[in-house]
Amino acid sequence: MIFNNQPIGIFDSGIGGLTVASAVMRLLPEENIVYFGDTGHMPYGDKSIELIRKYAVRIARFLIEDQHCKAIVIACNTASAAAYEYLRDELRGQIPVINVIDPMIERVVDDSSIHNVGIIATKTTVASGVYQEKFTRRKPELKYAAVATPLLAPMIEEGFYDNSISHAVLENYLLLPQLREIDALILACTHYPLIKHQIASFYSDDVQILDSAEVVALKLKRILQKEKIMALEKPEKNDKFFVSDYTTSFEKTATIFFPDEIKLIKSDIWESQV
Ligand code: DGL
Repeated sequence: MIFNNQPIGIFDSGIGGLTVASAVMRLLPEENIVYFGDTGHMPYGDKSIELIRKYAVRIARFLIEDQHCKAIVIACNTASAAAYEYLRDELRGQIPVINVIDPMIERVVDDSSIHNVGIIATKTTVASGVYQEKFTRRKPELKYAAVATPLLAPMIEEGFYDNSISHAVLENYLLLPQLREIDALILACTHYPLIKHQIASFYSDDVQILDSAEVVALKLKRILQKEKIMALEKPEKNDKFFVSDYTTSFEKTATIFFPDEIKLIKSDIWESQV
């Protein structure tokens, strides 16, 4: 039995999912969220599908069983590629699971101004072929190039954005020949919106830069409405932020998105397993 005032569970390997959490809070201010940043296992992007799936399943269990979440948002492309279908099937009939990939596929497929799209993502997301397979199936005439940009997420997680280091790393990737002719670029990693304006200025605003935060928040809203599990009245605000390892950079970035002081809670979900 799901109650309307239960929180929404959102997780990522680290700070990236905060970009999604903040869009969710803007669109659905009456909802409480429980965020889980798996900082102890960050980056996910160079790990195997099997390992990431194991992490995702454990985190989802924590969000549902311990935190009583009414919906789960996998706010990570890598974990969406590795574990979405598995979690959706496991939790069918219990609670809805939302991933960050499908709302972006819809967004691009429906946009007739996009003919050639670049996808930048972690190694595991690119290797999974999930964007490539969905675009080929949904819109065969669309040209795409998926490029792994493995330095970006750890760089951002360490707090390197908006500076000369992030500029140099980014330029190295964006100058790759595969991305030369694109008219839109998908930020297929939830960490990348933190360097979105650096990316936009690289392209002098000639290329649409697409991040999944807003489309995912919208998708979540529609599902909560359809399932009739939107928060009924404004419950007492009680957002919670868990991390599996405490890092100062997580705290610093979290305060960019959530200026009201947030208290990080160190989770011990992995401790019983080591
Ligand atoms: N934020 C995650 C994503 O969207 C990945 C970052 C990582 O490699 O852990 O793919």
